[in-house]
Amino acid sequence: MQYVERINSVLRPHDAGLPLVLDLFAGCGGLALGFEAQGFETLGFEMDPDGAATYRQNLRGECQEVFLTPDTDLPSARVIIGGPPCQPFSVGGLQLGKQDTRNGFPAFVSAVERLSPDLWLFENVRGLLYRSRPYFDGILGRLRALGYIIDFKLLNETCR
Ligand SMILES: C[S@@+](CC[C@H](N)C(=O)[O-])C[C@H]1O[C@@H](n2cnc3c(N)ncnc32)[C@H](O)[C@@H]1O
Repeated sequence: MQYVERINSVLRPHDAGLPLVLDLFAGCGGLALGFEAQGFETLGFEMDPDGAATYRQNLRGECQEVFLTPDTDLPSARVIIGGPPCQPFSVGGLQLGKQDTRNGFPAFVSAVERLSPDLWLFENVRGLLYRSRPYFDGILGRLRALGYIIDFKLLNETCR
């Protein structure tokens, strides 16, 4: 329960309002939609023009059309969320993991390292728990070394 209390302390409304949420690999904004529904302002970053346009159309927040790298400049934020591309890890693909040029985790982890948000969240596919498990554990190790309390859960065992 320790992490639940910590999450609530970050997400509870403050005098200054709820914190800005950066949404990396924003797609059409599905992940951000949940945060927006809870009253958060979100700011998306997405390379696909149609995805970014859909995000802008359906959410209140802005979505910048940008190809994220570990060096991409980002505004400061207390919350970072994101869905790095799943193709490198999906059991429906070759599972090349970190060797796959589409791997977005270096950009996500770098954003957390540089911005030190109070809270971050990422979602991905179950393949991270199989062949890519050592890489996944390495990501968690880097983030734990920054002081974060981390929990993860497989939500859908049939999803590829
Ligand atoms: C798994 S989807 C994210 C889904 C999103 N969270 C949602 O709820 O709609 C991954 C997205 O990352 C985008 N993407 C992949 N590599 C990227 C990069 N280097 N920079 C920015 N966007 C990228 C893809 O175009 C895709 O829309």
